[in-house]
Amino acid sequence: MPELKRLHVRHAPAVMAFELANRAYFAASVSDRGDDFFAQFTDRYKALLAEQEAGICAFYVLVAEDSSVLGRFNLVDIEDHTAELGYRVAQHVAGRGVATATVREVCRLAVAQHRLRTLRAAATHQNVASQKVLTKAGFVPVGPADPAHMGGMAGTWYQRDLVLQPYSAILPGDRLGEGRGHR
Ligand SMILES: CC(C)(COP(=O)(O)OP(=O)(O)OC[C@H]1O[C@@H](n2cnc3c(N)ncnc32)[C@H](O)[C@@H]1OP(=O)(O)O)[C@@H](O)C(=O)NCCC(=O)NCCS
Repeated sequence: MPELKRLHVRHAPAVMAFELANRAYFAASVSDRGDDFFAQFTDRYKALLAEQEAGICAFYVLVAEDSSVLGRFNLVDIEDHTAELGYRVAQHVAGRGVATATVREVCRLAVAQHRLRTLRAAATHQNVASQKVLTKAGFVPVGPADPAHMGGMAGTWYQRDLVLQPYSAILPGDRLGEGRGHR
C-alpha cells in the first residue's frame, strides 16, 4: 500500500524519476518546471530539504511499494498557522482518487504535525481535476488568484479552515460515512 512520507534525501532519485516521467502531463495543467530544474536537480533538492528543516515548508511524497513516487504534496510558506498547499500525482494512477484521498490526509497532518489552522490552494479555471480535488477535500473558493501566481492563467484561491479540537481534529469529510473509502 502506498505510504505518505516526509521528503528525505533518500527520495531524491525517485522524485527526479517522477518529475521526468510526468513532465509533459503536468505541463498540460501547471507551469513546466523548466530545463534548469532538471539540470540543477541536486542543488534544488538540497534547497528544499533546507527549507523543510527551517520549518518554512513541509514536503510529502506518496511512495509506492516499489519505492517509486506516486505523488507530491507540499505545504509551503508556513506562517501564522497558515500554508499554501500544492500537489501533483503521476499520470499512471490518475483518476483513481489518489489526489483526493491524499489531500484529505495532508489536511489531517497539517493539524496534527504542523499545528496549521488554514490551508490555501490555487487552481486555474481550466484545471477541473484540481478544483474537484479541493472541493471534495473540504476547500471552498474564496476569490480570484493573481495570474502571476498561476503561470499567467486565471484561477481561484480555495481555502480550508482546519478545526482544532482538544484531543482530536474533526475535519469536514472525515466524519463516519462522509467521503471516506471512496474508490
Ligand atoms: C490534479 C491532479 C492532482 C488530480 O489527481 P488525481 O489523483 O487524478 O485526482 P482524483 O483521482 O482524486 O480525481 C479528482 C476528480 O477530478 C476528476 N478528473 C480527473 N482528471 C480530470 C480531467 N482531466 N478533467 C475533469 N475532471 C477530471 C476525477 O474524475 C475526480 O472527480 P470525481 O471523483 O468526481 O470523478 C493531477 O491531475 C495532477 O497532478 N495534475 C497536474 C498538476 C496539478 O494540476 N496540480 C494541482 C495544482 S492546483
